Amino acid sequence: MSDHLSSLKLTFLPAGRSITISAGTTILEAAREAGIHINSSCGGSGLCGKCRVRIESGEFSEEGSPRLSQKERQEGIHLACRTRISSNAEVRIAAEAGIISGGLTTGIKERRKASLYTFDIASLQKAGVFRPPVEKLFIELPRPGAHDNMADAGRLLASLASQYDEHGLIISLAVLRKLRRVLREDDFRVTVTIARPVRIGGRSYILNIQPGNWTRRNYGMVFDIGTTTVYGQIIDLASGEVLAEEGEYNGQIAYGEDVISRMIQAEKPGGLQMMGEVVCETMNRAIAAMQKKSGISREEISSLTVAGNTTMSHLFLELETDNIRRSPYVPVSTFLPPMRAADLGLDLQPHTVALVFPAVSSYVGGDIVAGVMGSGMYRDPEITLFLDIGTNAEIVIGNEEWLACAACSAGPAFEGGGITCGMRAGNGAISDFTVNPADLEPMNTTIGNKPVAGICGSGLLMIVAALFRHRIIGPDGKFNRELESHRLRAGENGFEFVLAFAEETGVDHDVVINEVDIDNFLRAKAAIFAGVVTLLEQVGLAIKDLDRVILAGAFGSFIDIDAAMTVGLLPPLDAEKVMYVGNGPLMGGRMNELSNHIRMEVVEAVNRMTSFELSEVPNFKDNYLAALFLPHTDRSIFPPDP
Ligand code: FES
Repeated sequence: MSDHLSSLKLTFLPAGRSITISAGTTILEAAREAGIHINSSCGGSGLCGKCRVRIESGEFSEEGSPRLSQKERQEGIHLACRTRISSNAEVRIAAEAGIISGGLTTGIKERRKASLYTFDIASLQKAGVFRPPVEKLFIELPRPGAHDNMADAGRLLASLASQYDEHGLIISLAVLRKLRRVLREDDFRVTVTIARPVRIGGRSYILNIQPGNWTRRNYGMVFDIGTTTVYGQIIDLASGEVLAEEGEYNGQIAYGEDVISRMIQAEKPGGLQMMGEVVCETMNRAIAAMQKKSGISREEISSLTVAGNTTMSHLFLELETDNIRRSPYVPVSTFLPPMRAADLGLDLQPHTVALVFPAVSSYVGGDIVAGVMGSGMYRDPEITLFLDIGTNAEIVIGNEEWLACAACSAGPAFEGGGITCGMRAGNGAISDFTVNPADLEPMNTTIGNKPVAGICGSGLLMIVAALFRHRIIGPDGKFNRELESHRLRAGENGFEFVLAFAEETGVDHDVVINEVDIDNFLRAKAAIFAGVVTLLEQVGLAIKDLDRVILAGAFGSFIDIDAAMTVGLLPPLDAEKVMYVGNGPLMGGRMNELSNHIRMEVVEAVNRMTSFELSEVPNFKDNYLAALFLPHTDRSIFPPDP
């Protein structure tokens, strides 16, 4: 079906709000996108029967709605979560017991996610910097003869100098050992793989030599070594195209979920070597899978770029992490020289060069540097806030002239940890939420439209924002005790709100959010916002001076901008000024693989990144306390709604 034909108009009555959807979208999904509230406490899994709507016109298909009576079916009532639209249609919102007269919206025009920032290969070409750090050159050498008995190596170097203006090349013993045979295999026609220096004035290396012309087959790999997941990509260094990608759980998870546990493990006898081997095993599985998908052989991989936080990079290289976790938090090295990938335990050839992204400090690592490079903020005039939210929040602020960075501990709330019904972002996790302020009935949306199992990080943000927006909780995060609802009750951890009763869930208990959970959320968001304000203060600026925000990491891709501004996690900016870079380390890694010029800029950018230790800045605590409220105590930053 063409895009034109699959673009449908769905109108919600009585609100009269229309949305463009693609064929096959459920009514519940469309309502969520349109900012229309439909009761759905089971998360869209067909269990609660509360998402009744009446289809007034249009075609649709239904996946079975056992909760509907014969009479309801005759009246055109359907479950919004089970019904997929296949033509232009009009749908009237119904309440559980019948048709309601008023359209209820969530108070926002539509869901707004940060727009995706991608770098564009054409722009690298236009700027004349699309030249990989590892290149392949084809060269035809003059044959030796009675009057020309120059040595093979000298012949090769002289030809490269005369035909490509390549001077001062360093040739390795491995290349010398096979040079005689390779030169003669295709009558002195060879492909030479050359690695460029990262410093101006540095010397280039001849990494490999092959008989014949192989310049069209020059490939690179990029790896993001995350604490939880390792992602890899194979890219064509001639076109920049991603040919295959693969994600694997980091095998080190067996030794603890966070970086501190990994460092403790690495300090045990033999632990460091084991942690290095385990992550290499994970990478080798990903390499094998990507080679199978792309048909690219190991011999054709010329270079590899690796980005990870400082601990992950150290463990990958088996560098001691002991002082990363102890004050004053000193890593072994922030800059790492080019290495041979095979020496690191990777199933790649000796000629494959490994480039590891430099870090700024123990807690602002190569993954953040790669994200900053991928986002392009280091060469734009706008003052940009780059924010990577996880257990730790890494913050970079700056522009083409200066860069300041810091990290702060946000705790596990944004990854679904430390809250009563928290879970990782998997099937059944509430990831989106609104509430009907009239009867406090929730609209839960779960990942995979599976029965509610818990709350993930993005769901927690949506829940707190909606409860606050509808004054079900106050600025201090406490529930309004005056409200009457069977969903609000006193629990073991203070007042709580029942998001889904046990029978509406896929677990054997009610899924709730309580005041302790909200308090944990407030602490996490306050730490991040205080980090941003404090870092700005360190460079003599304030929130109002920010021109744009770039979000990184998985949370950034899911974050609802309005919700994040409602709770005071993000500063109030135009939504158009908020972007996300998806997987920043992979994006920065690709740029590093495709442009030696950008690789040089990485070094320059890291050298001008000033790192601040927030816990040692006296104002940080005050800023933290001020941010512990929804959205913030300083209403000059977050003006009250008119
Ligand atoms: S039955 Fe549709 S949301 Fe519960």
